[in-house]
Amino acid sequence: MNQTKTSMAAAILALLGTSGLAAKPATPTAPIHYDADHKTFRIDAGKITYAFGVNDDGILQTLYWGSRLAPDDAVGNATPPKSRSAFDAIGANTPQEYAGWGGPITVMPDLKAHFADGNRDLILRYQNYKIDDGGLQVTLGDKAAKVSVILRYVADPATGIIGRSARIENHATQVMTLDRVAAASWNLPAATDYSLRYLTGTWAAEWHVRTRPLTPGATDLESRRGSTGDENNPWFAIERGGHWNESQGHVWFGALGWSGSWNIHIDQDVLNQVRITGGFNPFDFSYRLQPGEGLDTPVFYAGYTDDGIGEASRLMHRFEIARILPEGPKPKLRPVLYNSWEATEFKVNEPEQERLAEKAASLGVERFVIDDGWFGARNSDKAGLGDWVVNREKFPNGLKPLIDKVHGLKMSFGLWVEPEMVNPDSDLYRQHPDWVLNFQDRQRSLGRNQMVLNLARQDVRDYVFNALDKLLTENDIQFLKWDYNRNWSEPGWPQVAPEEQQKVYVTYVQNLYDIMRRLRERHPGVEIESCSGGGGRVDLGIMGLTDEVWPSDNTDPSDRLSIQDGFSYAYTPAVMMAWVTGSPNWVNKRNSSLDFRFLSSMQGGLGIGANILEWTPAEDATARSYVEAYKGIRATVQQGLLYRLLSPQERAPYSATESVAADGSQAVLFAFLRQGQEAQAYPTIHLQGLDASSRYRYRTIHGTVAPGTPAVASGAYWMSHGIDLGLRSDFDAAAVVFDRVNGDR
Ligand code: GLA
Repeated sequence: MNQTKTSMAAAILALLGTSGLAAKPATPTAPIHYDADHKTFRIDAGKITYAFGVNDDGILQTLYWGSRLAPDDAVGNATPPKSRSAFDAIGANTPQEYAGWGGPITVMPDLKAHFADGNRDLILRYQNYKIDDGGLQVTLGDKAAKVSVILRYVADPATGIIGRSARIENHATQVMTLDRVAAASWNLPAATDYSLRYLTGTWAAEWHVRTRPLTPGATDLESRRGSTGDENNPWFAIERGGHWNESQGHVWFGALGWSGSWNIHIDQDVLNQVRITGGFNPFDFSYRLQPGEGLDTPVFYAGYTDDGIGEASRLMHRFEIARILPEGPKPKLRPVLYNSWEATEFKVNEPEQERLAEKAASLGVERFVIDDGWFGARNSDKAGLGDWVVNREKFPNGLKPLIDKVHGLKMSFGLWVEPEMVNPDSDLYRQHPDWVLNFQDRQRSLGRNQMVLNLARQDVRDYVFNALDKLLTENDIQFLKWDYNRNWSEPGWPQVAPEEQQKVYVTYVQNLYDIMRRLRERHPGVEIESCSGGGGRVDLGIMGLTDEVWPSDNTDPSDRLSIQDGFSYAYTPAVMMAWVTGSPNWVNKRNSSLDFRFLSSMQGGLGIGANILEWTPAEDATARSYVEAYKGIRATVQQGLLYRLLSPQERAPYSATESVAADGSQAVLFAFLRQGQEAQAYPTIHLQGLDASSRYRYRTIHGTVAPGTPAVASGAYWMSHGIDLGLRSDFDAAAVVFDRVNGDR
C-alpha cells in the first residue's frame, strides 16, 4: 500500500470509527442534494434516484427509490400518513429511513435500547444534516433521552449503489444498552407482486439460489454463528412483477458488509409495504454505551435496476471491484495458483513440496501455496492450531529453502493459516486456556477438534497480530490463505463484567478487521484469501480487506458450476478461486475429464489442487495449454461483465456463461453439458453485451462449433443468430473466445 493510500485509509477510518466499515478510501460520492423548500434529500447516481425527506412530524421518511427521474421532477413532500384505525396509529407504519423503537411504531425498528433508569422509549426525529466530499450525514436524535443517531449515505456515481451506516451516540449521564442496532432500512413501495431471491447452503454445498414470493409477514436471512456463515449469505434481491428474468424486471438488491453474526429482516406489512432492515444480529445481542460513548454499525449497501437480476449482479461486481476490494478500482488479476492440500493433506515435507513446486512451475503456475500441516505439531486436525512456528521435522531448515526455490521458479509463495483458532492440544492452549470463548465453569464444545480464540480480548488480538507479523517478517511470503473452520459456541467472555460480555459479537469482528488492516499496512505486498471451510466467510466487510475468497471446499467441477453460478449473484468472479483437482473427485467420486475440470475452474481465478506429481506427460501438456489459454482471457473472465446464459441451478443439464471485457474487445463463452439428452442438440447460444456493429472473430479453446459457423461476424450476428456448439456426451464442455477484429470499434 503506498503512502497516499495509507493516509486516505486512515482518514476514512477516523471518519467511520473503528468497526471496519470501509477498508479502502471511497472514490468520490455522487452528488447528494438537499431541497430546503420541501425538506427533501435526493441522490442521483448511476441509473437511479433515491429520495427521502423530513415530514411534519420530524420523521425521516423514504420517498422514492427506483429508476432515475428527470432533474426537475418533484420527489414529493414527505407527509405524515393518515391513521387507518386505532390499531394503526399515526406514524406507526411510516416508511422511515431509520426508526427507533418508541412511540406507536409497529414496524421492526432499526434501533432498540433501554436505559439505566428503566426507560425503553426512543423517538428519533430529524435534527440536522451535512453534505461534503464524504457524502451525506443526517443526524436524528431523541432530545429528552440525549441520544444522537448519525446516518451516513455514500453513493457510487457509476453503479448507483448506495452505502448506508449509522453511528449511535449516548450523550446522557446514564448507561444506554443497545438491544438491536441496524445499519439501515430500505423501504419499497406497497405492492403485492414481490419475490425474494436469496442464497443458502452448507459446507461443500454453498451458494444455492432460492426464490420465494413475498407475502405479508417476515423473513429473516441471518447468521447466529459468530461469523458470516453459509446457511445464508448477507445478500438479497427483491424482484417485482411476474416477468422478471436475467435481463428483465425491477430488482432491488443489497449486501451487508459484516463478518460477524448478522441479520437481514424482510418484512411486508399489512399495507403491503416492504421494509428491509439489516445490521448486527439482535439475537443474544447487547451493547452498553457509557455516557459519551458511541457505536458504528457496518455498512448496508443496496442498488436498483430495471434490467433484471443479471444486471443487478453486474452492478454488484463492478461496485466490488471499484469500491470494495482493497486494491480497487484496479485490483491485480489473480495469479494461477497451485495448492497442495488435496495432494498431500497434512503430510507436507520439504522434498515433496519442492517437487510439487517444480512441476507446478513447469505447467505455468504463478503462485505456490502450502496448505495446512506446516506448523506446530500439526499432523492431523487434532493438534497444533495456535502454534504458528514452522514444524522442524517437516522443514528442518525452516521455510526459507522452499521459499527460495519457489521464488527461483518465478512463482510467489503462500501459506495457509487459521489464526483465530486453537486446538486444546497446543502449546498456546496449555499456556492460555482462558483465551477461548467460554462461559465460566461450563463445557467448551469442540468443532473440528478446535476452539475459537476470543479475539475481542486485546491480549489475544495482540498475540494473533504479532504471530502473523513475525511470520511475514521472517519469511518472504506473498499470500496467506486465512481459514476459519467452525462456528462459535458458548460465546462468553468471563474476564469482563456479565453485562459487558455480549460486546464480543462486535469487538471480535472489529479486532479481526484491525489485525488484517495492520498486517496489510505493514506487509504491503501480501495478499489474503478469505476461506471458512469453503465459502463460509464471504461478505462485503471481509472483502474490503482480502484479495480473493474460496467459495467452497467442493471442487467437483460439475457441482462447482452451480456453486460458482450462485456465488456470482452477489460477488464478482474477480475474487472467486476455483481449482482443478483429482478425478474421481473426493466429494462425490465423480469422474470427469481434465478438460471439463479446467474449463469449470477457468470461470474464476484458476488454481490447481491435484496431485500433479501423478499426472502423465499427456495430462501435463493439456494442463500447460489450458493455463496458457487462461492467461490470455483472465482479464475478461475475472473483471469483465458476466452474463449468465444457461443456468445450472436445480441440477439443470446445461450451464453457460459469457464474460465481456470492459472495453468490449473480447468475449469468452463457457458452455457445459452435465448429461446428454437423447440425441438433442445443445441449445443455441445467443451472446449478450457485444457491440452490435463491431465484428468479432471466434476461436475455440476447447470443443467444436457447428459446421458453417462464420469465422468472423458482427456482434449483432453472434447475439441474434447465435452460435451452435457440438456438445453431446456427459460432462462435455466448450470454451469459445470472440476477439473484436482490429480496427472495429
Ligand atoms: C478447510 C479449507 C480447506 C483446507 C483445510 C485444511 O477445510 O476450506 O481448503 O485448507 O481446511 O485443514
